Amino acid sequence: MEPVSVENVVFGPFGQCLPSLVQGGDRAFAVVDSAVADRFAPVLDEFGVEWMAFRASEERKSFEGLQEIAGWLLEHEADRGALLLGIGGGVTTDLTGFAASVYKRGIRYALVPTTLLAQVDAAVGGKTGIDFHGCKNVIGTFSMPEAVCVDTAVLASLPLEELRSGMAEALKTLVIGDAAMYREAVERMRGGMERLGDNELSALVRRCVGIKSGIVAADRTEKGERMKLNLGHTLGHAAESVCLEAGRPVTHGEAVAAGIIAAAAVSWKKGVLDRSLAESICNDLKSLGYSDIPGLLSRHAGLREEEIAPKLSEFVLNDKKRNKDFINFVLIRGLGSVMAEVLDVNELQGIIHDLY
Ligand SMILES: NC(=O)c1ccc[n+]([C@@H]2O[C@H](COP(=O)([O-])OP(=O)(O)OC[C@H]3O[C@@H](n4cnc5c(N)ncnc54)[C@H](O)[C@@H]3O)[C@@H](O)[C@H]2O)c1
Repeated sequence: MEPVSVENVVFGPFGQCLPSLVQGGDRAFAVVDSAVADRFAPVLDEFGVEWMAFRASEERKSFEGLQEIAGWLLEHEADRGALLLGIGGGVTTDLTGFAASVYKRGIRYALVPTTLLAQVDAAVGGKTGIDFHGCKNVIGTFSMPEAVCVDTAVLASLPLEELRSGMAEALKTLVIGDAAMYREAVERMRGGMERLGDNELSALVRRCVGIKSGIVAADRTEKGERMKLNLGHTLGHAAESVCLEAGRPVTHGEAVAAGIIAAAAVSWKKGVLDRSLAESICNDLKSLGYSDIPGLLSRHAGLREEEIAPKLSEFVLNDKKRNKDFINFVLIRGLGSVMAEVLDVNELQGIIHDLY
């Protein structure tokens, strides 16, 4: 496959992307998710990239993870000219990007996302970060990678649960930016996500990267347009947090899918989306095996029906997107058309109680 570039994202095998990154004589280092270390080690060794394996998990996207990477870079005398590669899922790309943006006040970095979620979302757009005191991504930077190398062939080893998680973010991106491809993707996924071939995955990832890159280019630091990418994340994140607190975490994508279903319902309640389209989005996602928020919270957090709305309301109050009495919420106007709105928290809580 010929490498093709969308902004700074290059599609093609890693072995073809690496030479242009490591040319110039500066030393190159890589943080590699242990799950894919065997796959990447030969190419890294061939090009003289020094690398460390990193056991990725959300708990390790933390100051401890940062310390591990910064300590390793110092020990290996990485200087300000060094290039740092982050190879792995979103945990590894977020953490490595953050480490690169603060190590010696910032060194060059590039990403090689190896989960679908990281390819369509986490590695694109220059948001880096770590979790702190139980708050996701609360410490981080905006820092653009020099390049993002995307090769969908690496997804072949991804567990189905992780593939489903990434598909939810891909569908989110299509709801935001491409109605026709959304419909086509839902149809194809109904045949079983694990049956999608590399050509289909590659077309999906390219389109999602194109949509996200376009939005990010218009608003790199999330002052307006970029907020659209938070579709499904306000209530999805609340549901994710409730399940996490109950000790039965769900993948980020499962929570986002539930959040999109909820966003469609809120959009209908707010009068910006037809009821039939809200129901059709809900049915699409359910037909792919995603749950709505009550389903997730009863199955994973053991909540009874009457406990769902109060619990959700409580977490909405703690949302980092909340600003005093207001909260950012992305409404769906139609497939391929969304708008970021500022909702009164009391109003949103009222809608939650109406819906659930
Ligand atoms: N920066 C952003 O804009 C942004 C956007 C969305 C999500 N995120 C972040 O992304 C993170 C989630 O990313 P994720 O879902 O990729 O999680 P992850 O990095 O934890 O990866 C999921 C699992 O897949 C394994 N894995 C990775 N590549 C593999 C492969 N090719 N084959 C087999 N296993 C593989 C990992 O070891 C891990 O166990 C969250 O921390 C989230 O906050 C960031």
